[in-house]
Amino acid sequence: MHILAIYGSPRKGGNSEVLLEHFLAPFENANSALIEKIRLYELNFSPCLECGECERNGSCKLKDDFFFLYSKLLKVDLLVLSTPVFFYSHPAMVQAFFERLQPFWIRKNVFKEKLRKVPLKGVLLCIGATRGEKLFDGIKRSFKYALSALDGELIGNVFVRGVEKKGEILGKKSALKKAEELGLKILREFQRA
Ligand SMILES: Cc1cc2nc3c(=O)[nH]c(=O)nc-3n(C[C@H](O)[C@H](O)[C@H](O)COP(=O)(O)O)c2cc1C
Repeated sequence: MHILAIYGSPRKGGNSEVLLEHFLAPFENANSALIEKIRLYELNFSPCLECGECERNGSCKLKDDFFFLYSKLLKVDLLVLSTPVFFYSHPAMVQAFFERLQPFWIRKNVFKEKLRKVPLKGVLLCIGATRGEKLFDGIKRSFKYALSALDGELIGNVFVRGVEKKGEILGKKSALKKAEELGLKILREFQRA
């Protein structure tokens, strides 16, 4: 099992990072998965420039730090994104990540290519400071759309409200447990398959 874990926050050691570590703990304990962790804010890459290159040949002409992710994204079994809510949406680098999936969207929807044999599984972990009912609606919709461009589907999420200061998530024991339980459930499903 190959997991790509994406840290979407610019704050190192922040709340979404702690939540992601709890989700990954069962896989790390079982020692049966290859886990690659990527901090978007440590990469140097641009959002989509809408140059039209991918519409012509299905690939991106930008040779920046995102480039190595193109082949990886088609190989992984599970993509997990952990991110805070910024302005009722996601941080800018998460948006740039989504936009750079456009070549896959073109290959799938315009060139009618089958990108993968088995659909990619996606998990979304997300944290916000406030308690709005629709706090996670925007990011959930965007992530589902991003997964769909990759021939993927959302199989689970954990949303945590009311967490703002760095480390505050540690007081949300039930949310951390939920993330760990979701990880364990997915690990078992993969082991059964
Ligand atoms: C630029 C910025 C925008 C934010 N916008 C929202 C928001 O719209 N709604 C909300 O509930 N929290 C918002 N927050 C709070 C963060 O989601 C919250 O502090 C979260 O715990 C940060 O997670 P992290 O430590 O993983 O970065 C915002 C924080 C920042 C820095």
